[in-house]
Amino acid sequence: MDISALSTADEEAVYLVAKASAEADTPDVPPWSRAAFLARIHDPWPGHNFEFHVAHDDDGQVAGYVELGLPQLDNLSNVNLQVTVHPDRRRKGIGRALYTLAVERARALGRSHLIGPTVDRRPDGPAFATAMGAKAGLAELRSRLDVADFDALNLDVPIADGYRLVQWTDHAPDDLIDDVALLDSSLMTEAPSGDLNWEAEKIDAARVRESEAAIIARNRTGYSSAAVHIGTGRLIAWTQITCPNDDRWQAWQQITIVDPAHRGHGLGLTIKVANLRYARSTRPELRAIDTFNAADNVAMLRVNEAMGFRRRETWSQWQVTV
Ligand SMILES: CC(C)(COP(=O)(O)OP(=O)(O)OC[C@H]1O[C@@H](n2cnc3c(N)ncnc32)[C@H](O)[C@@H]1OP(=O)(O)O)[C@@H](O)C(=O)NCCC(=O)NCCS
Repeated sequence: MDISALSTADEEAVYLVAKASAEADTPDVPPWSRAAFLARIHDPWPGHNFEFHVAHDDDGQVAGYVELGLPQLDNLSNVNLQVTVHPDRRRKGIGRALYTLAVERARALGRSHLIGPTVDRRPDGPAFATAMGAKAGLAELRSRLDVADFDALNLDVPIADGYRLVQWTDHAPDDLIDDVALLDSSLMTEAPSGDLNWEAEKIDAARVRESEAAIIARNRTGYSSAAVHIGTGRLIAWTQITCPNDDRWQAWQQITIVDPAHRGHGLGLTIKVANLRYARSTRPELRAIDTFNAADNVAMLRVNEAMGFRRRETWSQWQVTV
């Protein structure tokens, strides 16, 4: 086996490893499309650099890869790590070799915290992380909303007095973009993050615009609903659903955040319900929405359950200091 930096010639094989792995580990979620995965390589998520290294078997086949996500504007001591080995080639030491390389790269880059997720439904990821000396730093849940269950609830959640609803597709209005950036940058510290070494992200209007472009580059449409406080004109709550444009039956419920000063008015539920209806107004094929939450994020889980989300599985975010 040898490991080398990702070359253009290996991109297709790396995609097929990612797809096979996703199909084995989370069979009910559509894997990334080829176009979206290639955008992940060529159009890095804003504020990050990425390194990909590829393991070849002795017969020259791509057996696995490691992705190092390197935040550039905040979290400068962290590496977001994803080690992936084809399901047919596991337990041969490939994961360990990729991890060893990742540790070398982290040290060379002056970074000390490696953080990465595993799904608990298979032993591979958690057993591997434990064997590498990592500690579980955050328990997460993936929940799914069957849209038919949502319809059956027939929820009526008008927006609280003093607020108005704003909605957009892909691009936030210019006059609200600074408030979107402010809310986005507070997410890391407002949502529970367990023992993980995560600090608030530095997000400004330009970075929000880059994220909007990155979502489009991944062939997804972003639907947003938000609440404006009428008295001040400030945007104080925001939620987003991103919908893959290839597998159109499923989507991801992403960020939901309400400014702490405006909590207690039901705004979280109001904007999430409104946003789902908004997304479906142009995407009638949508049948399922998946979302991740910290397992101890009681407030958000309560909102999700009120909408009909049901827990599917637990995940762990692991952390190791090198
Ligand atoms: C986790 C993963 C990368 C491991 O790849 P791999 O090539 O099978 O790993 P290795 O063969 O190098 O295993 C190293 C050690 O991890 C442990 N391990 C890995 N899989 C295990 C399993 N299913 N059961 C028990 N122990 C396991 C063992 O201690 C193993 O050493 P050993 O084989 O000498 O006993 C692979 O299963 C995978 O791609 N999973 C999905 C993605 C993921 O969870 N990535 C990890 C977090 S970013």
